Amino acid sequence: MMNLPPLLVTCGLPYTNGPCHLGHLRTYVPADMYVRYMRRAGEEVLFVCGSDNHGTPIVVSAEEAGITPRALSEHYHKHFDETFKRMGVKFDRFGMTDNPATHHRTQTIVTALEKNGYIYKQIVHQAYCTRCKRFLPDRYVEGTCPYCGKPARGDECDQGCGKHLEPGEIRDPVCKVCGTKAEFRDQEHYFFRLSEFRDFLLPYLEQVRGTSNAKNYAIGWIKDELHDWCITRTLEWGVKFPGRDDLVVYVWVDAPIGYIAFTEEWTKANAKDWKRYWCGQNRVTHFIGGDIIYHHTIFWPALLKGAGYGVPHAVVASGMVKVDDHKFSKSRGYVVWTNDDYLDKGLPADYLRYYLLSYTSHTKELNFSWKVFGERINNEVVNIFGNFVYRTLFFAHKEFKGTPPNIVDPVITVEIEKCLASVDQLIRDYEFKGAVDAIMTLAAFGNTYFQTNAPWKMIKTDRAEAARMCKNSIQIVKALALLIEPVMPDTAQRCWQMLGYEDAVANHPVSDAVVPVSEALMRQPVPLFTRMEENQIAELDALLQKRVADANRKKEKIPVVTFEEFQKLEIRTGLVLSAEPVPKSNKLLKLMVDIGTEKRQIVAGMQQFYKPDEMVGKNVVVVTNLVPAKIFGVESNGMILAAGDEASLLVPQKTVKPGTKIR
Ligand code: MSP
Ligand code: ZN
Repeated sequence: MMNLPPLLVTCGLPYTNGPCHLGHLRTYVPADMYVRYMRRAGEEVLFVCGSDNHGTPIVVSAEEAGITPRALSEHYHKHFDETFKRMGVKFDRFGMTDNPATHHRTQTIVTALEKNGYIYKQIVHQAYCTRCKRFLPDRYVEGTCPYCGKPARGDECDQGCGKHLEPGEIRDPVCKVCGTKAEFRDQEHYFFRLSEFRDFLLPYLEQVRGTSNAKNYAIGWIKDELHDWCITRTLEWGVKFPGRDDLVVYVWVDAPIGYIAFTEEWTKANAKDWKRYWCGQNRVTHFIGGDIIYHHTIFWPALLKGAGYGVPHAVVASGMVKVDDHKFSKSRGYVVWTNDDYLDKGLPADYLRYYLLSYTSHTKELNFSWKVFGERINNEVVNIFGNFVYRTLFFAHKEFKGTPPNIVDPVITVEIEKCLASVDQLIRDYEFKGAVDAIMTLAAFGNTYFQTNAPWKMIKTDRAEAARMCKNSIQIVKALALLIEPVMPDTAQRCWQMLGYEDAVANHPVSDAVVPVSEALMRQPVPLFTRMEENQIAELDALLQKRVADANRKKEKIPVVTFEEFQKLEIRTGLVLSAEPVPKSNKLLKLMVDIGTEKRQIVAGMQQFYKPDEMVGKNVVVVTNLVPAKIFGVESNGMILAAGDEASLLVPQKTVKPGTKIR
C-alpha cells in the first residue's frame, strides 16, 4: 500500500476581538477529539491553529478600546490560547496571523496569483465617510443588504440571507463610527478571478471529503454564480498588498494562509518539511463552523489552486450553536462565555466536551440550554459511566484488593471489539455523536452486566464466580478509559490511574482495550464525577436570563423628541379647588383645578394615595393641552403630574400663581 501523507488538522481561527464562547468551542472540541483519536489509532497527525488578527472588526474594537490592534490581538490571543488549554484542546502550534510567517506566505501566494494572471485592477465605488474623512471598508459601514433587504454589514448580510457582500454592494451605507450617511467614491482595488475557477471547483467539490453540509452547500452556490472577489482594503492594519503601501489584503486572504504559516512555524521548529503537509496529494482537514463554509470550500481552494498549491482534502463543518433557541448574539445577550460562565464557576471541561460532542450530529444545530446540559450530565455521564466505573472498582478493591487474575470471557471481548469497530468507523465519518453514543452503550452494557450478575451477592456463595464477573467488569472499565479519552481526557486519565496504571492513557493505542487488564495494584477508588445540582443549574440559567433581560433593556429604544416637539406640550401650575371620589371607583378622584385662565375638571388616579381633603388647596402641575377624555363616565380635561407607582405629586418648590407656565 502507498504511504498516506500525514494528516493535518486545522480549526477556524478565532478573531481577536472578543472572548471565547460556546459557539467557538464547537469547532475546537470536535477537532481535538478527532485528533486525539486518530493519533491513538496510529496516524501521524499535526494539529494547528492560531488567532485571526486582521480585518475591520478588530480595528474597530481596538479603536473603541483606545489601544492598537496589535495590543488587542495579543490580549485575546493569549486568552484563546489559555482557554483552549483549560478545555483540553491541545494544538501543536497556536500562531498569530500578524506574525512574520503569515505575512511572508501571504505575499508569496498573492505574488504567485498575480504572476499566474488571476489578479486584476478595477475601480470600485467604495463607501466613504465625509465626516471621518476615510473610506469605510467592511464593518466600518452598515446598511441594507442588496439581496434580501435586511440590515447588513459592509462585507456580509449577517442578519438576513448570509451572503458575502463585495465593496460597493451595500445599500444606504452609514458610517459605523460616527453614524453619518456615507457616500460612494471611486477607488482602485485588486480583484481575484474567482469566476474562472468553476471548472476546477465542480469536480473538486464532488470528491472533497468531510461533512456533507460543506460539500452540498458549496455545490449549490457554484451552480448559482461565482463573483470575482475584491481582495484589497484601504486599511493600515493587515498584510500589505505586494507593491502597494496604501493597501492591505482582505482578511479572508491572509487568514486561511495562516493555516500554512502555522504549519511552517511548527515544521521549522521541529526540523520537518511543511510541503509534506500542503503540497500535492495531502490530507489537510479543515474544521470550521457552518458560517464560514463558502470561504473554505470555494474561495480558499481556488486561491490555493491558482497559486499552485495542493487543495484541501476535507472540510468538516459543524452546525451552529444557539442559546435557548436564539442565534448567538452578544448584543442580545444570547451568549455563554467559556471562562466567565463555565470554567471560572469551577465546572469541569470534560462535562462541556461531553455535552458538545454528544448533543447531536456534528452538522446539526446545537441548541444550548443549562437545563438540558444538567440533565445529560447527570443521566449519562454520572449515572451510567460514573456509576458503572465506581461500583466495579469499589467492589474489586474491597473484595479482591485489586484485579482478580481470571481470564476475560470471550463474550466480553466481543462486545468491546464491536464497540471499537463502530467508534473507529464513526469517527472517520466525522460522526462524533455516534461515536460517543457507542462508547456510552458499552458503559450501559457494563452497568447491566454488573447489575444482573450481582457479584456482591454471588461472593457470599461462590467467590471464584464473583471474581470472574468482577474481572469482566474491570476489562470493560479499561476499555472505557481508553475509548473515552478523546472525549473526556481528564476523566479518562483519572479512571486509568484508579485501575492502577502509572502512565498516560493517551499514550496507549485504543486497541489496548482488548488487552487483558493487568493485575496491577488498584488504587482506592473514588467517584469520577459529581452531580450537577438543581440549584446550581438554576443559578447558571438565571445569570443567562439576566444577561438577556439587561440586553433587552438596553435595546428598548426611547424615542428622541425635538425641542419643537417638547414645546407643543403646555404644562402649567394649578390650584386644587375641590376634590371628591369618582362613584364606583376606588382609584379615581374628580378634581376642580384653577389653571389661571380657567377652571378645569380633571380625573386623576390617586384615591389610594391622597384623601380628597388633603388635595384641596394643593399647588399641582398640570398638562393642560391633552385631548379631553372620559374616564369612568366622567370628563377629564388635563393631567396632573405625579411620580412613580405611588403617584407622588409634583409640586412647585415655591408657591407660584396658578397658571404659571412650566418650561
Ligand atoms: N476568523 C474567522 C475564521 C477564519 S479561518 C481562516 C472566524 N472567526 S470567529 O472567531 O468568528 O470563529 C471562530 C470559529 O468558531 C469558526 O470556526 C466559526 O465557524 C466558529 N463559530 C463561531 N461562532 C459559532 C457559533 N455560534 N456556532 C458554531 N460555530 C461558530 O470566523
Ligand atoms: Zn464617519
